[in-house]
Amino acid sequence: MPGQSAVRFLLGNQPREIADISPTMTVLEYLRQIERMTGTKEGCAEGDCGACTVAIAECKDGSLDYKACNACIMFVPFLHGKQLITVEHLKNHKSGRLHPAQQLMVDQHGSQCGFCTPGFVMSLFAMYHNRCDTSRTAIDDALAGNLCRCTGYAPIVRAAKQLLHMPVDDEFSANEQSTLVALSQLHAPERGNEQPDNASLHLQHTGGSYHAPQTLPELGRILQENPASCIVAGATDVGLWVTKERRELRALVYTGAVKKMRQITITDRAIEIGAAATVAEAMETLSEYYPSLEELFRRYGSVQVRNLATIGGNVANGSPIGDSLPALVALNAELKISRANASRTVSAEDFFIDYGQQDIAPGEFLERIDIPLPVAGQEFRIYKVSKRFHQDISAVCGAYSVVQDSGALHTVRVCYGGMAAIPRRASRCEQVLAGAGLTDDSIEQAKLALREDFAPISDFRGSAEYRTVVAGNLLERFANDLTGKQIPSVWEVQYA
Ligand SMILES: Cc1cc2nc3c(=O)[nH]c(=O)nc-3n(C[C@H](O)[C@H](O)[C@H](O)COP(=O)(O)OP(=O)(O)OC[C@H]3O[C@@H](n4cnc5c(N)ncnc54)[C@H](O)[C@@H]3O)c2cc1C
Ligand code: FES
Ligand code: FES
Repeated sequence: MPGQSAVRFLLGNQPREIADISPTMTVLEYLRQIERMTGTKEGCAEGDCGACTVAIAECKDGSLDYKACNACIMFVPFLHGKQLITVEHLKNHKSGRLHPAQQLMVDQHGSQCGFCTPGFVMSLFAMYHNRCDTSRTAIDDALAGNLCRCTGYAPIVRAAKQLLHMPVDDEFSANEQSTLVALSQLHAPERGNEQPDNASLHLQHTGGSYHAPQTLPELGRILQENPASCIVAGATDVGLWVTKERRELRALVYTGAVKKMRQITITDRAIEIGAAATVAEAMETLSEYYPSLEELFRRYGSVQVRNLATIGGNVANGSPIGDSLPALVALNAELKISRANASRTVSAEDFFIDYGQQDIAPGEFLERIDIPLPVAGQEFRIYKVSKRFHQDISAVCGAYSVVQDSGALHTVRVCYGGMAAIPRRASRCEQVLAGAGLTDDSIEQAKLALREDFAPISDFRGSAEYRTVVAGNLLERFANDLTGKQIPSVWEVQYA
């Protein structure tokens, strides 16, 4: 197959070319076991603790874009064409100077036992080079994927604040230019390759095969020829099948190199999101059209997770508590499902058939998600309730879309995650609300209808009764948000 047969990337400033590697070896295993670089730590091996945080740099619009990522769930071939930066690369070995992210952690006493420190430093490094917003909320969001048992976080937050007020160091700017040149040279033709400009990656190893096509026709053809392959995008679900469930995935097809599937386009009718666009890439555009999605995505895993996870993977995985799904159903999104030489469209609502069963066949792939643009009078809200604010999947997630006309509601679409085996619309509740106004009485009736709509399960995230009460309360919150009704907080009630 034309293309490249070795993973080519920069490890710091050093080019690496690796042909003989299991496609499911994680970047963390590679660093620690093959490169013997042990600065990057393993805490949980499931994307939760941030001890394994590394930075991945890619060329974007002529400059370097740095992303903090969890090395523990990232497969080595994902590095193809990119730069991998670890804590070992930060100190300037010529001048002996620590990177400002390291120096400020020292100055602010941001490290005690030190186990979490390399991960924090790499998150700080990515924040600093991306010139992240200096607000406390932005800092909390950027560090939410790093856990520390010792420090209580205050010194680390102080280090982050100071760092973000510092100009980017000249030493690093100079380095960026040489990195951009080195990255462009990674795709130089391989010797003996018939089609040297084809940068698709194809690996064959006793541990399994890996294909990273660059175009839709190539992806369709590979899946047609290998229908049993596992499609992988960000691996924030698939990675855990390997690290936690010890599954052996013998054939992987990666969608992240297909440029068309990374695109986000606004047409006159919809926001079209390529299935391989990451949550981090999609959240800005989606929040612009549907501002309620901003908080949902801020609370979607962590920065490290959002930098890898895709909306397409969230949909295709079909978890009943996948966070984007209630929004897509409530907003009547359409999914473009493709295969070699053919495509079809299915509504997000019809895509989810039953627990673990989606309307997609072997050889097919999810190409794009089309979310209709908001119409006049449309109100959309989504609320997530989880045990922790950050870095936790929902117990219940409620999404509400209505069009208000002269005080009455129509085109009512209410969808819940966490209430059934799939994300599902609340049809009886919708019937009560359609044509009604947002009065206390109609909301009470709609809450009662929710009890007929769903019979949720009890699990460690919440009992059936808890979920039912929360679903009703979220509906009430939606009504209050739209009518502007103020309700006292728990504190105000208790201490009045
Ligand atoms: C620490 C952590 C926190 C998380 N927090 C959240 C959270 O807050 N909310 C939430 O909803 N989820 C969360 N997740 C789950 C996960 O991040 C999401 O489900 C994510 O969107 C999956 O996307 P991915 O690109 O990583 O998918 P992958 O892991 O690559 O794939 C997931 C599934 O989708 C299939 N697939 C992927 N792309 C396609 C395609 N184009 N066509 C067909 N099939 C495809 C794969 O074969 C696989 O079955 C979390 C995960 C971790 C590790
Ligand atoms: S080891 Fe915990 S997030 Fe990777
Ligand atoms: S310094 Fe010990 S876990 Fe953070």
